[in-house]
Amino acid sequence: MSRAFEDTQGRRPRKLRVSLTDRCNFRCGYCMPEQPQWAPARHLLTLSERLRLVRLFVQRAGVRAVRLTGGEPLLSPDLEPMLRELRDDSETGGLRLSLTTNAQLLRRRASALKAAGLDDLNVSLDALEPAQFDTMTRTRGRLPAVLDGIEAAREVGLAVKINAVIIRGQNEDQVVPLLDWASRRQLVLRFIEFMPLEGGALWRRERVCSEADMLTQIRRVHGRVHALGAEGPASYYQLDDGTRFGVIPTVTRPFCGQCDRMRLTATGELYTCLFSAQGTPLQPLLRDGISDDALVAHLSAAVRAKPPGYARTGAVERPITMHGLGG
Ligand code: GTP
Ligand code: 5AD
Ligand code: SF4
Repeated sequence: MSRAFEDTQGRRPRKLRVSLTDRCNFRCGYCMPEQPQWAPARHLLTLSERLRLVRLFVQRAGVRAVRLTGGEPLLSPDLEPMLRELRDDSETGGLRLSLTTNAQLLRRRASALKAAGLDDLNVSLDALEPAQFDTMTRTRGRLPAVLDGIEAAREVGLAVKINAVIIRGQNEDQVVPLLDWASRRQLVLRFIEFMPLEGGALWRRERVCSEADMLTQIRRVHGRVHALGAEGPASYYQLDDGTRFGVIPTVTRPFCGQCDRMRLTATGELYTCLFSAQGTPLQPLLRDGISDDALVAHLSAAVRAKPPGYARTGAVERPITMHGLGG
């Protein structure tokens, strides 16, 4: 492949995260303000606009995996059609297709998702204690549906990973219970350091429960923790009893040097870095009837200008929050 899609640090995009909606049925404080402003429906990309962009990223930029995100992607009517179209198209048929969801609505959708071509999914679950779950998600009584959604995904043969954002003073006491729960079910669990991407209402440096803090807690209960190495954004560890888990240490140990992700928001902005101050608006180009070659020139210019990342620049003040960006 040419260098048209290589950035100044020699990185190339391999994974595209596509947000289908900025809406969500949860209100996690680390992800969105308490009263979020949703994008108007007419500003959302259509299914065919999204498919066109994904195809160009695959054909011209070398993207190999697509993760559908939100907000909450199960709220989008485009989810199954998008999976089917990607699976049935000869250009995109070999892509790995993944989903990140809060799982509340998963029980009824799991088998349709599997049938539509989904390979795996990641579920956000930050607490097993019901009151704490409610506090983290700013909802009431939804934990049983989430746990049942996870079971439903496993029953239909979808690979499941669990994401737990750990915030000091909120759910750090859930680290060991989550680890034991996931270990009993042989689920892959990844703890995530709290990142400043929620609009500034909640994030404080002292609220970050660091990878080192999490490992200290785990050692206190389970003894030795052996490092296994990194895979994607996560560093993996193993306990003496064979239990494996991951940590995504974005704040204390950024992995920007290996970053191979691009993000397409629900309204069609391309973000080349989770911490970019702004994205490249593609929707006006699409709606102006731009040719594929001209569109590819815009994509490649954006990719080549990918910032070095959080490791160098730190957090930025920016209008978009995690739910708008797709996690
Ligand atoms: P796989 O590794 O493919 O399973 O997916 P993922 O970890 O990229 O997807 P997921 O949606 O589960 O994301 C989990 C979390 O990983 C995100 O919310 C971020 O916290 C973190 N993450 C994923 N990609 C990046 C990235 O490019 N930069 C940073 N800083 N964090 C990321
Ligand atoms: N810091 C860390 N992780 C976050 N997520 C959402 N907001 C944040 C944040 N501020 C995680 C969610 C979800 C994934 C897509 O992103 O837990 O699992
Ligand atoms: Fe919704 Fe995901 Fe944000 Fe939670 S983390 S509010 S599930 S978009």
